[in-house]
Amino acid sequence: MTAIRILPTAAALAEAAARHVVERAHTAIRERGRFSIALSGGSTPRDLHLRLSSPPLIDEVDWARVHVFFGDERCVPADDARSNYRMADETLLSKVPIPPEQIHRMRGELPPEEAAADYTRQLTAYFDREPPGLDLILLGMGDNGHTASLFPGLTALHEQQRWVVAEYVAEVSMWRITLTPVVLNMAREDLFLVAGAAKAHMLRQVLEGPYAPDERPAQVVRPTLGEVFWLVDATAASELAAPPG
Ligand code: 6PG
Repeated sequence: MTAIRILPTAAALAEAAARHVVERAHTAIRERGRFSIALSGGSTPRDLHLRLSSPPLIDEVDWARVHVFFGDERCVPADDARSNYRMADETLLSKVPIPPEQIHRMRGELPPEEAAADYTRQLTAYFDREPPGLDLILLGMGDNGHTASLFPGLTALHEQQRWVVAEYVAEVSMWRITLTPVVLNMAREDLFLVAGAAKAHMLRQVLEGPYAPDERPAQVVRPTLGEVFWLVDATAASELAAPPG
């Protein structure tokens, strides 16, 4: 199932996303005793993180039962300004009472292949021989259609076996580590956050164009049993042919 909700502003989008995360955390903890969430990089999630780590929402989550993963990482040390972990730590993780051993970061400081193998081991340990079905994976979308670090025309987006891969992305002149479609499509829910006029054209291509993941990688996110939810601000939604009400 795919659902799209359009919010009037980026701030409204962040607030809706924060409430969505809290609600999913409640459900997962009530039903399964713990909540696993993968964070994304980029700039859009910052405001979401800040809302989750401040009153009133910070007090609505049982952080002791939250397990944090990452959808992708830049191959840089954790204190580098480009690190997704660093952004998440500054805006969310350092401000909420999550047991440190429940924060599973991609180790961008390692050689890329080693970092991918290390993260596969971390996921394997958490899921204990079960398939890697995260409760919620947060995703962004670039104006070139990439999501996580699945970039147009590269191989990671076609991966069918491995859970985590490393790939050099010439477009951003950097190695990246990313969850593959295997894990993205095993989630209970993938939640895209998309804001800004620069995304409007690609959002229309992804949601309303033919399936062409080499050109619009976000289209590979089609969970087998789970849901895809899009929270989009009005400027990003402005080119959709038939915006839902
Ligand atoms: C990253 C990402 C990436 C991001 C998109 C959207 O590490 O860069 O996880 O997939 O989500 O590029 O980024 P913005 O939110 O900055 O538009």
